[in-house]
Amino acid sequence: MNLATVILAAGLGTRMKSALPKALHPVNGKPMLQHVIDSIKQLKAQNNIVVIGRNNDGVRNTLGDNPVAFAVQKEPKGTGDALKAAVQRLKGFDGTILIVSGDTPLVNPATLRKLLKLHKKNREDISMISFIAGGAHAYGRIIRDGQKVTAIVEDKDAGEEHKKINEVNSGIYALESHMTALLKEIKVNKAKGEYYLTDIVGIAVGKGYRVGAHILGNETELTGINTRADLCKAGSYQRDRIVSKWMDSGVSFIDRASVFIHPEAEIGSDTVIYPNVHIEGRTVIGSGCVIYPNTRITGSVLGNNVTIKDSTLIESSVVKDKAAIGPFAHIRPGSVIGASAKIGNFVEIKKSLIGPGTKASHLSYLGDAEVGENVNIGAGTITCNYDGREKHKTLIEKDAFIGSDTQFVAPVRIGKGAYVGAGSTITRDVPPLALALSRTGQRHIEKWALKKQMGNEKSEIKNKRRKSKK
Ligand code: UD1
Ligand code: MG
Repeated sequence: MNLATVILAAGLGTRMKSALPKALHPVNGKPMLQHVIDSIKQLKAQNNIVVIGRNNDGVRNTLGDNPVAFAVQKEPKGTGDALKAAVQRLKGFDGTILIVSGDTPLVNPATLRKLLKLHKKNREDISMISFIAGGAHAYGRIIRDGQKVTAIVEDKDAGEEHKKINEVNSGIYALESHMTALLKEIKVNKAKGEYYLTDIVGIAVGKGYRVGAHILGNETELTGINTRADLCKAGSYQRDRIVSKWMDSGVSFIDRASVFIHPEAEIGSDTVIYPNVHIEGRTVIGSGCVIYPNTRITGSVLGNNVTIKDSTLIESSVVKDKAAIGPFAHIRPGSVIGASAKIGNFVEIKKSLIGPGTKASHLSYLGDAEVGENVNIGAGTITCNYDGREKHKTLIEKDAFIGSDTQFVAPVRIGKGAYVGAGSTITRDVPPLALALSRTGQRHIEKWALKKQMGNEKSEIKNKRRKSKK
């Protein structure tokens, strides 16, 4: 089958009330138009055209990396006019054109394939996917005379009888290329000043062409996004689908409704996800991990049997097998946490390599550091990595022991097996196996407290005398 696809995405999206083009509004972290493009891509059509508006450079720039060509609809004069813009880019194409609304992000490629199959089998000139809408909605109604489709009537133009019809238009059509000649017969809709693509159905039926509407999916898959409420609904439909998919492959969720899993994230079996966990971007989580509540992991790779304790943020980093992170830890981009390492309470790691088995359990900042294996980082250790102009590295070799409240004024290197005494400010390299101490020695002023107390008492007596003289 000669196949071309057209995605209509040039509408103003007025109902979103947004400065961001509707096509770029994300559904679970991915622009809604990208969802549609990803489904379309799987059909491997000869041409993929995305119709965008004149001022939609943002869309072109954001989504330009896809195997699609853009057609520009000069004015948003309706879906019929938008298809005309695409047809100009399909001159000489002879075959089937699959048209999908850019605001129907959850449609499955399998559903699109089913439509194409029925379209071919029934030798229809125009086929469309319809579905049964529940509750109040504003979709176009499929009008039938017996079984035969005769027209689509838009919600705004529907009278009481038509409003009762619950079989509605999904905005997804398969059209033989010769049918595009009918586009010029679509008249402007007086109520809205737009050319409705849906009118092509009545025109085609009037001319005796074969038209079919096929109920191929349900509202959760075919929901069209016009408002923020639709966007929210589509997001939760998809999240539910994603969670089901991962449960089927062996992942446990304590509360499926409160988690966010990016459509392209991956999770290994026997991993347990607690409530309010966000797994964003192309994050990969291994098997046997436990992700405790209020955690966000974005664009990262976690090995197997990793534990992420409560309220932790991990960004663009790698966490290796059996490592434990949190609670309240922040792993910033470019970090690698080694196998069985432990990053504990209120620890921030930035662009650092933390060796296997190394522990930084409390209240530390390690930035631009390279820490070897089995190092112990005491509570409150800080790398002073920034001198106001440049960032510098701290190197801590394997088996080193860093006492609490140490500052490393980078660049600095701590040799293998060296010790740093608690409370030190390290400004020079420490040789392997040495003990570095930079704090001032402790001294005692005997009976200092007693003298202070006596001093206080004397001044109190003086004050009282002064007051009584007044
Ligand atoms: C449309 C259908 C309706 C269907 C519903 C399914 C028409 C007239 N109505 O209504 O029957 O039930 O989708 O979700 O087609 N677009 C352009 N250029 C324009 C106008 C729109 O490219 O000038 C694009 C939009 O960006 C959008 C798509 O076409 O991706 C559909 O437009 P929209 O305004 O959302 O139509 P609906 O009112 O949802
Ligand atoms: Mg719509």
